Amino acid sequence: MSALGIHRTLEDMRAQVAAWKAQGLRVGLVPTMGALHAGHLSLVEAIAQNADKVIVSIFVNPTQFAADEDLDIYPRQEADDLAALQNTQTDAVFAPSAAHMYPEGFATTIAMDGPALGLESDERPHFFGGVALIVLKLLIQTQTDVAIFGEKDYQQLRVIQTMVADLNLPVEIMAGAIMREADGLAMSSRNVYLSAEQRKIAAQLPVILKQLAHSPAPIAVAEAEAKKALLAAGFTKVDYACIRDAETLAVPDANTVSRRALIVARLGKTRLLDNCPAV
Ligand code: PAF
Repeated sequence: MSALGIHRTLEDMRAQVAAWKAQGLRVGLVPTMGALHAGHLSLVEAIAQNADKVIVSIFVNPTQFAADEDLDIYPRQEADDLAALQNTQTDAVFAPSAAHMYPEGFATTIAMDGPALGLESDERPHFFGGVALIVLKLLIQTQTDVAIFGEKDYQQLRVIQTMVADLNLPVEIMAGAIMREADGLAMSSRNVYLSAEQRKIAAQLPVILKQLAHSPAPIAVAEAEAKKALLAAGFTKVDYACIRDAETLAVPDANTVSRRALIVARLGKTRLLDNCPAV
């Protein structure tokens, strides 16, 4: 069915990358947890402009889920994912098992400060340690020249850019623009969890985000107004609605050059993330 090479082991993946590099080809990686949607496919398209060969990794990474999160029910649909990649510029899929990535006795962790502090970490303290660990492993395993991460997970993007710079990893990190549904909702693998009624409420999130990003009010007032508007729209909880320094993700100060508006709000158990540049 597939012209795609599917690699399940590190050895197999590395042999393919070594063959490409021997031909002087530039290799790009799109790390994913599967359940691919148009947002992921746009990352494939974007990286293909900057690489000769494109690998998509599909791995639901257990170390970025806490015990009470959705690891067990996270959508896994490899056959659909492979079909979705069929007519894209993907050359290979790296889909290792959890046992292959984290064999018995695995003992390494990664701790990060800077952009990893606050926001997502307040709600999910384990999260960026798990993300940084798996991304570092994937970058080393695939020895890729360039990798791309979506701006929807903006804090994740800043964490990865910082890790790559701090560890002097010889890889270029690209940022992929947020892809949106027709009504503006940011595409996410978790949108499938939403009921029809929740889906309608979810469409208010990008509207309120835009208001926050363009509010002329002092930051604290604009943030409080956004939170109030989200709850009034029907969101069950607002994890944060804030303006941050776009580089450091700290509260903006006199050194801030550009700002970012970020919102995470919940509909039942589903967390919806969105962000955009702020004035
Ligand atoms: O954004 C994601 O899908 C994941 O956090 C990533 C970067 C693939 C690491 O598991």
